[in-house]
Amino acid sequence: MSINERIGILTGGGDCPGLNAAIRAVVRRASMDGTEVLGVKNGWRGLIEDQIEPLTRFSVTGILPRGGTILGTSRLNPFKDQALLEQLEANWKKYNLGALIVVGGEGTLSAALDLWRERGLPVVCIPKTIDNDICGTDFTFGFDTAVTIVTDAVDRLHSTAESHHRVMIIEVMGRHTGWIAAYGGIAGGADVVLVPEHPFKLSKVCDLLLKRQAQGRTFSIIVVAEDAHPHAEEDFLNAEQNTQIYKHEQLGGIGNILAQEIEGRTGLEARVTKLGYVQRGGSPTPFDRVLATRLGIKAYEMTQAREWGRMAAVQGNRITSVPLAEAVGHLKKLDEEIFRVAEVFFG
Ligand code: F6P
Repeated sequence: MSINERIGILTGGGDCPGLNAAIRAVVRRASMDGTEVLGVKNGWRGLIEDQIEPLTRFSVTGILPRGGTILGTSRLNPFKDQALLEQLEANWKKYNLGALIVVGGEGTLSAALDLWRERGLPVVCIPKTIDNDICGTDFTFGFDTAVTIVTDAVDRLHSTAESHHRVMIIEVMGRHTGWIAAYGGIAGGADVVLVPEHPFKLSKVCDLLLKRQAQGRTFSIIVVAEDAHPHAEEDFLNAEQNTQIYKHEQLGGIGNILAQEIEGRTGLEARVTKLGYVQRGGSPTPFDRVLATRLGIKAYEMTQAREWGRMAAVQGNRITSVPLAEAVGHLKKLDEEIFRVAEVFFG
């Protein structure tokens, strides 16, 4: 007999591969105890607007390999407006939820923490994002799939770059951290990796490209994270470019500017590939499926142990739980050791 006979689950923020694996794991583990699971649609919006429906082991059949989320998602923050909060609490009561499992990135987890702290609502969280930028957990699911997609792209771009003797620039996601760029760059054998944690000097990048050319290496691969910035000493972006590229809600465009600058400064021909949402789409890798499944089961068990205001996490290869307060508030920046590994292969 379960402690909480009815729990809810929602997915918020940007989608990522592995969300369905986590939903399935929660439902399957809950069904062992006879716990009812309600699926809240479209992130917090579903709880505010009463978009809620039961999930059974039959409704989660076949979703393990599917990308995206069968529940839908949104970036709506319930703290935007007092009226939204009241609606959310009214529906929470209406459905008599014993707990809510919130699957999200930084924004969604912050709102979950506030609901627990300020309103006493019993929440348990699961971290997700392709960006791998959540503190308290070594990895988030979605990241391995994104890195696999970036690696495949870099592999493919090598052959066309080589044939045409070009500088190939691949712009990747990651929001304010360089995890995807660094892992994708190392795995794909990039000649330069530019990340937000290390502002770059374009003069150095150009020197390196010309040196490669002089050595007879007639093509180069640059992986650039969407939020990579020029070093303050060599900022070549004008105000308009700055506002265009570094919009928090939708970053992107540094790759195109880099290509123009590199062509102008070196005379080498440059091309850009912006991988965009391809990095977030499609089927999760086995690693992400297993991680999401383990975190889903842990989160369900946390609801039964009444571990409120905490997040399921992976540390080393152990599944554990950490206070949500440790996970939100700041981002997990790219590990210096990883960047140093990438740097060995620059040039
Ligand atoms: O946080 C995941 C992420 O895919 C980032 O890498 C990217 O900058 C952002 O989401 C894009 O967000 P949206 O789906 O709102 O355009």
